[in-house]
Amino acid sequence: MFKINDNYLKLPGSYLFSTIAKKVNVYKTEHPDRQVISLGIGDVTQPLAPAIIDRLHTAVDEMADARTFKGYAPDLGYEFLRTAIVEQDYKARGVDIAADEIFISDGAKSDSANIQEIFSADNRIAVCDPVYPVYVDSNVMAGRTGIYDPETGLWSDVIYMPCQAENGFAPEFPQEEPDLIYLCFPNNPTGAMINRAQLQEWVDYANRIGAVIIYDAAYEAYISETDVPHTIYECEGARTCAIELRSFSKNAGFTGTRLGFTVIPKDLKSSEGVALHSLWARRHGTKFNGAPYIVQAAGAAVYTEEGRKQTEEQIAYYMKNAGIIKEALAELGYTVSGGVNAPYIWLKTPKEMTSWEFFDYLLENANVVGTPGSGFGPSGEGYFRLTAFGSYENTLTAVERIRNI
Ligand code: MLT
Repeated sequence: MFKINDNYLKLPGSYLFSTIAKKVNVYKTEHPDRQVISLGIGDVTQPLAPAIIDRLHTAVDEMADARTFKGYAPDLGYEFLRTAIVEQDYKARGVDIAADEIFISDGAKSDSANIQEIFSADNRIAVCDPVYPVYVDSNVMAGRTGIYDPETGLWSDVIYMPCQAENGFAPEFPQEEPDLIYLCFPNNPTGAMINRAQLQEWVDYANRIGAVIIYDAAYEAYISETDVPHTIYECEGARTCAIELRSFSKNAGFTGTRLGFTVIPKDLKSSEGVALHSLWARRHGTKFNGAPYIVQAAGAAVYTEEGRKQTEEQIAYYMKNAGIIKEALAELGYTVSGGVNAPYIWLKTPKEMTSWEFFDYLLENANVVGTPGSGFGPSGEGYFRLTAFGSYENTLTAVERIRNI
């Protein structure tokens, strides 16, 4: 008789965004007359930029012609895309990353969940609290997190780094020594950012204790301030301690098209001298057949002059929404942060409401969906996340409705 991986049974409830979707669907069924606006999941609403659409069309045509047809993609991704990434995301910032250190994938979510596979099951992980739930859940599935305490919402073997108003939502070095440190900046969910000097301290710390930083930079395109790093490799020594995750979903609207990449420098080695790059290459080759050619071609269009200009305009559009939400909430007396280097606004719930109470309150009274902070971890309790990824019109309407509650 087969046995299941009973780590899966340890996962409490369903995935945060599935829970929200279910709740919202029930509400919509019960109130078919109400126009619900979603500022919940961080999903884009603007169509793909024209330069990307044009390239998708021509790539599809290439697939229809025997001379240009493409089958399986190369293991690490197409050279044309990896080279464009290296030139514009790294070399242009004075950063030394080679094309064969880039692994093209179908998105940062799956990479962030899968990357833990190459580490020992007894490695200790450290995460920010609140945190993007995928990091913890994927480690639960791998049996790395110990016992869950439903009272506190904490796992016994996870090292939590609380990110709260008192520390500017920036993690501090934990008391226990982790092996794997998950950092996400610009941060999901708080929208906070750390500056270059702060990130350098993390890199120095990781090198000192022999830990790996898994750096999720999915939202780097939203950075507006100058002293904050777009990539962890802007920090000295990051090549020996950091893996970076990047997403085309957030910087170019590929949430439905799927494309991302992971960077593993060849200098990143275990204490026995094993290069993580070769392990991930082995894993990639075995479990992944590459992102589709047409999607990678579309991804390369993001790096053309037109593509860059158009995607930058989209980001400015979303950040205008962020400004509108943040300003309106502040005017209404809410305590708000984020929304400057990230498309997320993090607000303190009013009147001591719990995060889920505020979720219900907002849905019922404004027909606006957001994300309860406690869904991201215990330190998110009493907080709420709104996303700037709605349309401009919906953002204005949502804000107006919140004003009129
Ligand atoms: C979010 O809302 O946190 C994001 O959409 C999650 C994701 O990118 O998977």
